[in-house]
Amino acid sequence: MRTKRSMVRVAPAAALIVLLVTACGGTETAASTTSVADSTSTTTVLPTSTLPSTTTTSTTLTEPFEEPSVRITIVYDNIRHDERLTTDWGFGAYIEYGEHVVVFDTGTDAPILMNNMALLGIDIDSIDTIVLSHHHRDHTGGLLGLLRETGITPTVYMPASFSAAIRDPVAALTAVINVTDPIEIVPGVYTTGEMGSDIIEQALVVRTSQGNVVIAGCSHPGIAAMVRRAQEVAGESIALVVGGFHLLNTAPDEIESVISELRDLGVKQVGPSHCTGEQAIAMFAQVYGEDYVRAGVGCFIVVG
Ligand SMILES: [Fe+2]
Repeated sequence: MRTKRSMVRVAPAAALIVLLVTACGGTETAASTTSVADSTSTTTVLPTSTLPSTTTTSTTLTEPFEEPSVRITIVYDNIRHDERLTTDWGFGAYIEYGEHVVVFDTGTDAPILMNNMALLGIDIDSIDTIVLSHHHRDHTGGLLGLLRETGITPTVYMPASFSAAIRDPVAALTAVINVTDPIEIVPGVYTTGEMGSDIIEQALVVRTSQGNVVIAGCSHPGIAAMVRRAQEVAGESIALVVGGFHLLNTAPDEIESVISELRDLGVKQVGPSHCTGEQAIAMFAQVYGEDYVRAGVGCFIVVG
C-alpha cells in the first residue's frame, strides 16, 4: 500500500494547452489547473518472477490506449530545487503513471537517493520498474544499494550492451531485461531502445493525453535524436522533454541549433537539467519562455 501523498489533479483537456503542473522553478502553466487535492493511490507490483530475463526486441507500439496523467518527481540531480534534499552529480526520476511506478536512473549514491525519496514522502516499496539510461555511475550507482538495503525486487531494464560487471550483481537480486530495440515497459511507457555508438543510451517515453513525455538521462546520442526516436516509438506529439541534455561543453551556436531542432520537432515544453549545463539551460529558458521548466532535485511535474 502506498503512503498518502499530495497529488495534483489537472483540468480536463483544453485544446492546444499542454496541461503541465509543476512545483519546479521557471515559468509554469499551472494556471491551466483547476484544483489541488490529496489522494491515495495503489500500486500493483509486477510479478517479476514471471518476467523473462532475456533480451526483448519488439513490441506493439501506439495501440489505442487511454493514457493516465504522469507525475515525474526528480529525486536525484546536481541542480537544487528543494532545500531539504541533497544535491549530487547525477540523475534519477520517480515516475507515477496509472498503477505503475517507474524509477528512471538511480543517481550515484544509494543513501542520497533513498534519503531524498524519504524526505519527499516516497514509499520505496511502490517501485515496480527501474530503467537505467546508460552505464555511467551517476545514473547507475544508486541501484545496487537501493535493492540490497530495501529488499525490493523491481524489474530492471538496462541496455543490453551493459557489461556483466554491472548486470550480474543486479540479476542476482531481481529480474533484468536487456534492452536493444524500443519496447513497451508497461502500458503507455516505452524505452527508445539502445541508441548511439560510443556511449549507448536509452530514454524513456510516456504517453499522455497531451502528448508524449520524454525523460532523458544524459542524451549522449543527442537529445534531438532521442526525441526523434521517441516520436517513432510513441507518436509525433511531444508535450515535454525533461532530464539531462548533455550540452555542458557545447558551443552556443551548436546549442542554438539543438534548441531549434527541438522546436522544429514540435517539443512543446522543456525541463533541461543535470548535464545540460548552465549556459544551455539559460538559452532554453530564453527561447522557450513560459514553456521552460527549471527542473531540479525535489521538483515534480504532472502532464496529462
Ligand atoms: Fe550523467
